[in-house]
Amino acid sequence: MIFELSGSTSSKSSLRIIPIFENSAADILPSKFGLDVHPSVFSGKKDSTYLLQHHDQLVLLVGLGEDQEINEVEKSFRRILSKNAEIIQDKVTLDFSQDLDSKLIESALIGFSLGGYSIDFFKREKDKKKDFRDLKVEVKSSIESIHLIVDRAEKISNAKIEAFKLVDLPPNVLTPTFLADWAKKLEGKNGLKAIIFDQKKAKSERLDAFLAVSRGSAKAPKFIILEHRHPKAKFHLGLVGKGVTFDTGGLNIKTQGMVHMKSDMGGAAAVLATTQLIVDLNLPINLTSIVPAVENAVDKDAYLPSEVIQSHAGLSIEVIDTDAEGRLILADGLSYLVQNYAIDQVIDLATLTGSSVATFGYECGALFSNSEDLSNNLQKAGLETFEKVWPLPMWENYRKEMDSEIADIKNYHGKPIAGAITAAKFLEAFIHEHPSWAHLDIAGVAYGDTEFSKTKSGTAFGVHLLLKFIENQL
Ligand code: BES
Ligand code: MG
Ligand code: ZN
Repeated sequence: MIFELSGSTSSKSSLRIIPIFENSAADILPSKFGLDVHPSVFSGKKDSTYLLQHHDQLVLLVGLGEDQEINEVEKSFRRILSKNAEIIQDKVTLDFSQDLDSKLIESALIGFSLGGYSIDFFKREKDKKKDFRDLKVEVKSSIESIHLIVDRAEKISNAKIEAFKLVDLPPNVLTPTFLADWAKKLEGKNGLKAIIFDQKKAKSERLDAFLAVSRGSAKAPKFIILEHRHPKAKFHLGLVGKGVTFDTGGLNIKTQGMVHMKSDMGGAAAVLATTQLIVDLNLPINLTSIVPAVENAVDKDAYLPSEVIQSHAGLSIEVIDTDAEGRLILADGLSYLVQNYAIDQVIDLATLTGSSVATFGYECGALFSNSEDLSNNLQKAGLETFEKVWPLPMWENYRKEMDSEIADIKNYHGKPIAGAITAAKFLEAFIHEHPSWAHLDIAGVAYGDTEFSKTKSGTAFGVHLLLKFIENQL
């Protein structure tokens, strides 16, 4: 998709798309656009559209309802492209002459870009959906800073599409090595550094819990570090994303839902795509992102239930269940980050527990933090971006559940209760008492059903949330 500002091109588009608020439709359609549309046919109601021919141009009116939120506008615009491919030729105009505020225009542009995304990566060319890579999109608006809005929307939608892809690609393609290569490709952009630990280097860095999980897989583990540095940095943020490229459960093999476990790197996707976005926008922060990437599989070397393994933090861990693997790789990711970087705030994102899904469904992620400020800021950014996270308690009694008799801690308390909370308490043991840490369990929201695909797919949950969270502090 190639965005152009109105006035910078002369070629005429075959389709003009005009978003219209409900309360002003009757007024504005004739006065501003010279369109005579009876209110009984189109009145700007939410989710309504109306296609008409006006002179030599098709016009698509898109109803915004009376007062729309950014997520609704994004969805409406995503729908246009993903559901009306047949009316779209090589050029369209998005006409924001009815002055939407800049946030709504941004969402509309993001949504429109996302509309071109499809998961048909492996279909024969002739069976693929129309691809809109060369589609010219003329943006018409009287807002002076429209070029900045367009530029920013492009960067946000690129990051979201990247996050979609990382989750949607299958685990024979999207391996730990694929994620490491992805990170390497980003290197150099605005000075970004990518550091990849292979198995040998991870061993010498004592990332033993991370390596234990990888033992049952033929795919090489990769411990990925990205460093973005800015001369005017306001603070240093650390991100850690769970990068289990497929979770079979290990020897405690999954009996349910295994087919969805390519999404078990949803935390990594959020962290990598957010890092790309921060770098693209060159935001004035220092950011260190870590993605421990492994596959949790089964073979003769796979780690065993009851094994006692070591960890980067120096705590020994009794493995009760090999399917509680995410917390093991995160433990090493968090410990490595906190011990090697002077981080002001640490946030990890992980598709960590079925328990968080049982608690919140698909409505929000579970939020755990040892800092009230950090927790409040994340909660607020979540409400603002419609990528909601909601707090659960971190009382000490939950930590006791994870006590082991043979080791310093165990990876599962063996009970069908409080699974998301006890997992969070486990992680907390590995942050070296960093005063400002948050854990987002995004198992229910990173991947799921949407109107845009028949199968479950990636949602890019976390990208917009983290961007907002960061920008609220600048
Ligand atoms: N990747 C899963 C969690 C998950 C479940 C993600 C459903 C997305 C949807 C995680 O590794 C896992 O297996 N968790 C177990 C932990 C248990 C064995 C302590 C779970 O939640 O059942
Ligand atoms: Mg698991
Ligand atoms: Zn997992």
